[in-house]
Amino acid sequence: MEERSLGSVIGLGTWNTFGANRELAREVVTTALDGGSRLFDSSPMYGAAEESLGLALHERRGEAIVATKIWAGSVEKGHGQFEDQVRWFGRVDVEQVHNLVSWREHLPWLEEEREAGRIERLGVTHWAAAAFGELARALRTGSFSVLQVPFNPLERECERELLPLAAELGVAVIAMRPLGDKSRLRHPPPVEALAPLREFGVETWPQALLKWALSDERIDAVIPATRNPAHACENAAAGDHQWLGPEERRLVERLAQT
Ligand SMILES: NC(=O)c1ccc[n+]([C@@H]2O[C@H](COP(=O)([O-])OP(=O)(O)OC[C@H]3O[C@@H](n4cnc5c(N)ncnc54)[C@H](OP(=O)(O)O)[C@@H]3O)[C@@H](O)[C@H]2O)c1
Repeated sequence: MEERSLGSVIGLGTWNTFGANRELAREVVTTALDGGSRLFDSSPMYGAAEESLGLALHERRGEAIVATKIWAGSVEKGHGQFEDQVRWFGRVDVEQVHNLVSWREHLPWLEEEREAGRIERLGVTHWAAAAFGELARALRTGSFSVLQVPFNPLERECERELLPLAAELGVAVIAMRPLGDKSRLRHPPPVEALAPLREFGVETWPQALLKWALSDERIDAVIPATRNPAHACENAAAGDHQWLGPEERRLVERLAQT
């Protein structure tokens, strides 16, 4: 089994963000990299986001962990997606089966590509708690070393079975949807409520949420998505390794619920 950690990193999600807009992709990705973000999550499901990401990374590809996905009902289609990814990224650092689509069919060829060195690690993702049993079955094969699931103060179902299983198996965990409820994002808690978090480098509500997730030692990366370079900069600043303790995490949980 490969080592678990991806390095406790802030990443960048690319669903519903820059899509085919290459200029915007360059701005967002460059700002994220400059701010210290290292992991970039994408998928063939996200329009042209993968190609835009590849172009935006360009000569800085070596600074990035590219975590993308295969989202295909057939092996043939999956192969085609992978060949595109190799063109855009050179190789894939984390290749995830998106929403577990045909994961048993894809696994043999993905393992061959990993053996050949064109993929470093294999992973599985799903957004729905109803699929967590199947995620656990996939992890128990021992073939996957990365798991991606939703994790934020109001979405914690993965804590029941998957996070303990990932820890037991040495599987790294990427938290999707780390900013949670979008209405709370639009109406964040007053800045005074975040005062106890300031010594941990938290200035804003999105930073409190990102730090909350990454301060759980079972979480290796969070991947907030944004199309706004200023938000990419703000989010990247939450990855400075001053982790919250239990008391501060409980404060974030209370604020998320109010
Ligand atoms: N099944 C799967 O594999 C799966 C499913 C869901 C998600 N994912 C991955 O996880 C990533 C993240 O999930 P998500 O996109 O659902 O949700 P998210 O990252 O929790 O939230 C994204 C939203 O937050 C806003 N935002 C980001 N930073 C902000 C900031 N600093 N201040 C205010 N608003 C901010 C963005 O708007 P702005 O653009 O205005 O900043 C966007 O509307 C996805 O992009 C994708 O890569 C994977």
